[in-house]
Formats: sequence, C-alpha cells, structure tokens
Amino acid sequence: MRHEAFHYPALTDIRTESKKLNAFLPLSEDVSTLFEALTLAGKQTANRIAFQPMEGTDGTEDGAPGELTVRRYHRFAQAGPGLIWFEAVATVPEARASAHQLWLTEKNLDAFKKLVDEIREISLKENGYAPLIVMQATNSGRYSKPHGYPEPLIAYNCPPLEDTPLAADRIVTDSDLRRYEEAYAATAALCQRAGFDGMDVKCCHRYLACELLSAYTRPGDYGGSYENRTRFLKNCYRAARSAVTEPGFFLSSRLNVYDGFAYPYGFGVSAEGGLTPDLTEPIRLIRELKQEFGIPLINVTMGNPYKNPHVNRPYDHGNYVPDEHPLEGVSRMMRGVSEIQHAVPDVPVLGSAFSYLRQHAGNLAAGMVAGGHCAMAGFGRMAFADPGFIHELRESGAISPKRVCLTCGGCAVLLRQGTPAGCIARDREVYKL
Ligand SMILES: Cc1cc2nc3c(=O)[nH]c(=O)nc-3n(C[C@H](O)[C@H](O)[C@H](O)COP(=O)(O)O)c2cc1C
Repeated sequence: MRHEAFHYPALTDIRTESKKLNAFLPLSEDVSTLFEALTLAGKQTANRIAFQPMEGTDGTEDGAPGELTVRRYHRFAQAGPGLIWFEAVATVPEARASAHQLWLTEKNLDAFKKLVDEIREISLKENGYAPLIVMQATNSGRYSKPHGYPEPLIAYNCPPLEDTPLAADRIVTDSDLRRYEEAYAATAALCQRAGFDGMDVKCCHRYLACELLSAYTRPGDYGGSYENRTRFLKNCYRAARSAVTEPGFFLSSRLNVYDGFAYPYGFGVSAEGGLTPDLTEPIRLIRELKQEFGIPLINVTMGNPYKNPHVNRPYDHGNYVPDEHPLEGVSRMMRGVSEIQHAVPDVPVLGSAFSYLRQHAGNLAAGMVAGGHCAMAGFGRMAFADPGFIHELRESGAISPKRVCLTCGGCAVLLRQGTPAGCIARDREVYKL
C-alpha cells in the first residue's frame, strides 16, 4: 500500500496522524531546549543539534576531501550545529564503499587537518563557537566497492541480503579480521593528529562491525555467542585506544540497535523472525562500551539502507515504498532511542531520523530532548537540503517549509551510483540525477 505523501502543514496535523497511528512522536512547540549546552568528554557543545554523518562520495582517488567535500563542511560549519559527526572514512582501501569514499592516510593527513581547522574557524566566526567534530571510521565490509563495483567482504552468508549465496572466499577470515582491527589503531592516530575531537568505530547499517553483531552462524572466534559477535568491535576499540595519546580525544560508535528485516538472526531483534525489536543486547553492549572504553555518548541508529531503507530514513517518495506509514518508521526510531536513553542514563544518546518531519523536525527534536528521550538530535538529509534551518530555529523558533528536505531519496540514489551526493531539490545548481 502506498501512503500519501507528506501533507501536514501544521504541527497539529502531525499530532492527529500520530494519534491515529499510535505513534511515539513527542512534539514540543518550544524549541529552546535545543539551544542548551551539553558537556561531553569534558567539552561543551553549544547546542543539542548534531549533523549526522552524510557521505558525499566526493573524495579524491587517494581518499582526501575533494572540492565538494570541502563545500559541504563549510556549509555545515556556517549552520552552527553543536556537533558534526563527520562522514564515513575508510580504514583500509579494499573496504572503501566507493572509489571516492574518504580514506585517511599519512599522505592526505594535511588535507583532513586543514578541513577540520576550517570547520572550527568558520563556525567560530559565524556563530561564536566551534562544533565538536567526531570522525566516523569504517570498514564497509559487505558493501565495499573500492573500484566502483561490488567487492563484498562479508562476515557470513545472510540469505535475505544475497540473491544467490556469495562465494566462500568473500567471507573474511579471522586473520583478516585481526588485520582490520589493527587498522583502527593507525586511523585513530591519524584522526587525532587531524584535530578531530573523537573517533567513531562505526557499527551500523550492516557494514562489517555491524554485520558481525549478528554473526550467529559464523564458526570460530567471531561468531555464535554474544562475546564472539562483539569481539571485533571491542578489539577495534582496543586497537584505537592503544594509539590515542591525548586525554581529551574520545572513542564512540554509531550503533545499530535494531536490524529489522525478516531473518531470525539479527541484532536487536527477538528470535521470532527479525522484525520485533529486542534491545537487550544493544543495551548490554552500550553499558560495556561505557565501562570498558568510557564512551561519552552513543549515536543510535537502525536498519540497513540497502535492504530496508525506510527503517533507517523514513520517506514517502521513490521506487521502494514499504507497507508502513513513514511516521511509524520515525516512531520506531524514537521509541528505540528513548528506550536506550532510559536504560543507559549515564550515556547521552544522539538520536537519528528526524528529517521526515521536514518543517516540524525541530519540534520533534525539541520534544525528544526536553522529555529526556535523548540528549542530542542528529539531522542527516535536512543538513544536505539546507543546513541553515538551525539559524531559523534559533531566530524564529520554527523552520520554514521552503527549503526543507522532501525525502525524495535523490541523495541516496547519487550515493549508490558512486557519484557526488547532495540535495537534488534544494541544492540543484550542484546536484542532479
Ligand atoms: C546520501 C546519504 C549518505 C549517508 N552517509 C552516511 C554515513 O556516511 N554514515 C552513516 O552512519 N550514515 C549515513 N547516512 C545515514 C544518515 O546519517 C541518517 O542516519 C539518515 O539519513 C536518517 O536521518 P535523517 O532522517 O535525518 O536523514 C547517509 C544517508 C544518506 C541519505
């Protein structure tokens, strides 16, 4: 069933629809909570708005930020989020998601450093404060395309994700995994030297570390038990930590707390069939990451953008429209974020998937933060469409509908094509399909 496209001009329209759907969408007319400071890892963010990692597929072939990468982060810096979660950056070349995914190396370190410095300078000049900047370090695993075509590195064969089973030599060996873990040490050292405030050991959206969390059917040290399935992630943390020398530099993760497709072996799902959330293991994992590695916050997300993109980024346009109202998708994310925040009150949670609400996204973000359901609200597609919505929110308490994200999916199509990704509706001088 196709649901109607977005037709909620007023906040009360969202309230009415939400009631009908029995959705969890705490909305607040007063957005002032979003402009309160938050202390993270001994540093202060100026506000509770973060920009989520948004890969632009516009790095140079050697992995340095390209012209459009620089343009994107300059725009982000001007907008004034309290935190910028810098997009996925590869730790090893064979696991880049595209030939233009960023990849931090000794050779291109200066280009990253320059960009990080510029982000701080621009924001300081425009807004009077600098954002915290966290770099997302990744191994794209199953979705590696370092030469522009798929060269998957998988944790195990997962039938719902493979039309025909991938060959055994696509399954990474335990010794490959140990090598990939070590790569996080080199990346963390470079990340710190580039001037980032912290590094994310990316563990979401079915990339390698995330896939291993559900590797029930994998034999050996990295499959089966909870301890084995979380081994890679924790070893990446250990490797990264061994390379960190500055006391203020922190580690964290963007973590999938719910895989959510029909398959009994998922992470954050009950064994009934993969669709019912069960956050017991994600909560345990976050507590352990806090205890063992002192994570100062956790960035919570869900779904697999290749398999069930509506779970990750609810939308109402495009070819693949699921039998679910997009507000139910937003609600699932908000419930998950809130459940985690309440279960782990000493770890501030950064929530995801606000953009579907367009001009009302700030009201949902404020409702979530004011209600104690998360500490920060992270925006993805809205940041591509018009990062300036933060200024509007601050100055008038509302976002104008004129430049908001339309959830058309164009940015994701560009990303999948391996071409520079951005907003085809609101930034169309630069981005076209
Ligand atoms: C073009 C594009 C690039 C993305 N790149 C990343 C990325 O590098 N790392 C990541 O964790 N998520 C990535 N995401 C997911 C977003 O960070 C975010 O979770 C998602 O868009 C939902 O948030 P929103 O509703 O605010 O857009 C990307 C999404 C899109 C559409």
